Parts: sequence; C-alpha cells; structure tokens
Amino acid sequence: MAFQTDHALAPASVHLLHDAASGLDGVIVLHSTALGPAAGGCRFWSYPDREAMIADGCRLAEGMSYKNALADLPLGGGKAVLRRPEGDFDRTALFRAFGRAVESLRGSYVTAEDVGTHVEDMTVVRDHSRHVAGLPLRGDRPGGDPSPWTARGVFLSMRYAAERSLGRPLSDCTVAVQGVGAVGAALAGMLHRAGSRLIVSDVDARAAARVAIETGAQVASVSSILSARADIFAPCALGGVLRHDTVGKLKAKLVCGAANNQLAEPADGDRLADRGILYAPDYVVNAGGIINVAAEYLSWSSEEAAQRVEATPQRLAQVLDYAAATGTAPHDAADRLARERIAAGHAARRAA
Ligand code: NAI
Repeated sequence: MAFQTDHALAPASVHLLHDAASGLDGVIVLHSTALGPAAGGCRFWSYPDREAMIADGCRLAEGMSYKNALADLPLGGGKAVLRRPEGDFDRTALFRAFGRAVESLRGSYVTAEDVGTHVEDMTVVRDHSRHVAGLPLRGDRPGGDPSPWTARGVFLSMRYAAERSLGRPLSDCTVAVQGVGAVGAALAGMLHRAGSRLIVSDVDARAAARVAIETGAQVASVSSILSARADIFAPCALGGVLRHDTVGKLKAKLVCGAANNQLAEPADGDRLADRGILYAPDYVVNAGGIINVAAEYLSWSSEEAAQRVEATPQRLAQVLDYAAATGTAPHDAADRLARERIAAGHAARRAA
C-alpha cells in the first residue's frame, strides 16, 4: 500500500511489509522526505493487530520529521515498526527480509535501532542495504551507542534552561532524574560533576543504587519521584509521564529530560505552562542520538557531530523565543516551528 500527498502533516507514504517465510509483518512509514531521506529507527514490538501497528508507525514517523527538522538535519522523518511474532522465530531471517524491504525504497528511508532492536539486527540489515545506521563503531567515526550524545544534549539544554527560567546555575539546583538507564545514568554523572544535588528513581533498584553510590544521589521511590522536592524534573524512562493527573504533583519549575513523548497529550503542555513550569520539549533536547545516527549515515566527522550536539541549547533557545514571541507554550511552539520548516522544504522542492 502506498499513497502520496504533498501535505506536510500526512504521511508521504506507508509501505506494508509481509514475508511469510521469515514471519516479517511490519510497516515502513515515510512521513516526510522534504528535507532529505526519511530517517527513524526500527521498532520491534508486540501489537494486537495491524491497525495498531500502522497507527504507531504513523505517529512515530511524524515525530521523527519534527525532531529531525528542529535538529537542523538534512533528513525527513520515517519509522519502521515490525510486529514481534508469537512463539519461536528466526530473527536473522526476519531482519534479512526487513533489510531487503529497506533497500527496495532506494534510500528514501534510513533505518537504525529503536525499542526492541539492537546493533546485531542492524548488522544483518547492512548485508542487504546500505541505508542503515547504528552499526558497530569504526575507529573514531560517529556511530555506536547514541546514549552519551543524547545525555550531553539534555545536560546542555538543562543548563541553559535553568539559567533562563530559574536564574540559577546547575550547581545551585536539585534535579530529580526518573530512570537511570543508559541516558539517565550518564546525565546523572554530568549533573554530579556540575555540582547539582540529585534525586534518582528507577524500577530497577540496583540501577538506582549504583548511580546513588557514584553521584551521592538520594534514591526516591518510583511513585514519589514526580513530587520530589527538586527544582528540575528530568524524565529519562518512559513516555507519557506528564498527564492530567500527574502535572499537578510536580514541585519542579523546569522539566527537561530524554524520554520520548513525555506529554501524554498536547493539553499537558498547556497544563505545565499554566502552572508556571517551563517544559523543554523532549524532541528538541534529546536529539543527540539522531544527530549521531545522521553523522554515521552521512559520513560526518566526530567533530561535526559534536558541534551539532553542542548547539542543542541554541536550538532550544529558538523554540523558547518563538514561544515567547507568539504567546504559545513551548511544546506548541516546537511543533509549529517544525511544521514551518517541513513546509518550507516542500515548497523549495516544488520550486526546484
Ligand atoms: P534505558 O532502557 O537504558 O533506560 C530506561 C530506564 O528507565 C531503565 O533503567 C528502566 O528500568 C527505567 N524505568 C522504566 N520505567 C520506569 C519508571 N516507571 N520509573 C523509573 N524508572 C523506570 O533507556 P535509555 O536509552 O536510557 O532511554 C531513556 C529514554 O530516553 C527513553 O524514553 C528513550 O526512548 C529516550 N531516548 C533515548 C535515546 C538514546 O540515545 N538512548 C535518544 C532519544 C530518546
């Protein structure tokens, strides 16, 4: 199935993938190719039916368009979503079939890891298509685990936003970090070195304890981290943590973290603004990972990738300035700016 539209908000095309021999059942959604090839990871997950899978693919691909546009990357937005077969299956055969599907799109889609996929899967894809990133590191080229890059972008954004909205350096702030996995633990280390006081929480008690030992953080329970006495709340676990029933519990005056899709719905961004809490939009501050992926795919140097990650606070400043100038909440300002850039890309393509 494929349908074409030049509307900036609808998917440019939706490609259903089916390979009975390997059990591949999935979808590649190209949301926008206005600014370049549609880039976004491959999610491998259980879905009740194909409709749910396609809906998730469309939502995630649109998010990638916005994230890539606001990161100033020459990339559009796309996503692959594959249904995890029930019972035993041949993982290599499945990702070989996926690699052939990626190749059939002749570079209009670039894949990488996402929830449920790993470096080994992308290495299998690489045997069939060169339109893949997230491969094992080669020398000092960009690539490999994107988490430290993501953490660095979040840290720099938080430092900027704390000075802008709280009028204080991070050394004078308490930060509550929800989830100390790959990104959260790296972020906690950076904050510790910057002199912040830390409160951490994780469903994995050992992960929280490890970070507490390394950084002197206080450990909070999973249920109390949102209402911890902190200046800054950093969601680094799952999406959807900012909801109608949780925003009111926050004591922090700034939210800045790595988790994707932190707002359960856009209205939660307005709820934060109404409570005088500055929300640093997730996809603006957590773009370090996709910058690393872009650098790998586009063969940029490590210096170029690092410079772009270091520029994350400038991009956040643009969004916050735009929000202030237009009287909108930051989440809304980010979406509007992203849509403007994608629409400008479409217009430039039509004019060319
Ligand atoms: P991860 O899986 O390494 O860490 C997540 C941590 O959160 C785990 O330690 C887990 O035990 C914990 N956790 C899960 N539910 C929790 C809860 N209710 N309360 C407290 N802790 C909980 O994942 P990673 O890579 O650190 O990513 C974190 C978030 O950032 C995810 O939402 C991810 O989508 C997002 N992200 C990650 C990027 C990367 O480069 N790794 C790039 C952009 C976004």
